[in-house]
Amino acid sequence: MKILGISGSPRLQGTHYLVNYSLNYLKEKGAETKYFTVHKKTINFCRHCDYCIKKKEGCVFKDDMEEVYKGLEWADGIIIGTPVYQGTITGQLKTLMDRCRALVAKKPDILRGKVGMGIAVGGDRNGGQEVALRTIHDFYMINEIFPVGGGSFGANLGATFWSKDKGEEGVKEDEEGLRVLRKTLNKFYKALKMLKTM
Ligand SMILES: Cc1cc2nc3c(=O)[nH]c(=O)nc-3n(C[C@H](O)[C@H](O)[C@H](O)COP(=O)(O)O)c2cc1C
Repeated sequence: MKILGISGSPRLQGTHYLVNYSLNYLKEKGAETKYFTVHKKTINFCRHCDYCIKKKEGCVFKDDMEEVYKGLEWADGIIIGTPVYQGTITGQLKTLMDRCRALVAKKPDILRGKVGMGIAVGGDRNGGQEVALRTIHDFYMINEIFPVGGGSFGANLGATFWSKDKGEEGVKEDEEGLRVLRKTLNKFYKALKMLKTM
């Protein structure tokens, strides 16, 4: 079972900690993992030049997305974490998602049948975490990845955190968030196992 974790935070704080917490949790169950953070990476905006559609050779830009493309192709499961910015995902993560158009244009079935889950970290208790999760789930659906939530009675759409703007320290203090994250990770792991044995 191969899992790629992506952090959409420009910092190595709460989201970075939580995506790595998730990868370590699944490593203990026997998964192989890779991690990518947008921190200090160069990811150009998609400029809708349609090079990827016309050439079917990937993106016209050769930047840090090369690592993401390789990781997405390699993975069976994808965990995307994001801080909440202006009520939704970060601009860095949105740019990364936009750039995946080139990957799918080159290989249309590349992401089909993989499994994905999300983690959203807000400074406020109700700061837009669910909107951010839904944006991550939309990305999965558009790219034929099965989105997995945490299940009813407690975890619902997936893992949401209230960092109180205290970065890593803040998410570590959010015990309810960590409980919901573990519940979501267990569902994600089960879904991956189901798909692998089909
Ligand atoms: C530009 C910007 C916009 C933000 N907008 C929101 C918001 O809409 N809702 C919210 O709850 N927190 C918001 N925050 C706070 C971050 O989501 C919060 O501090 C988060 O824990 C940062 O995650 P990180 O530690 O992984 O970087 C914003 C922070 C920044 C820098």
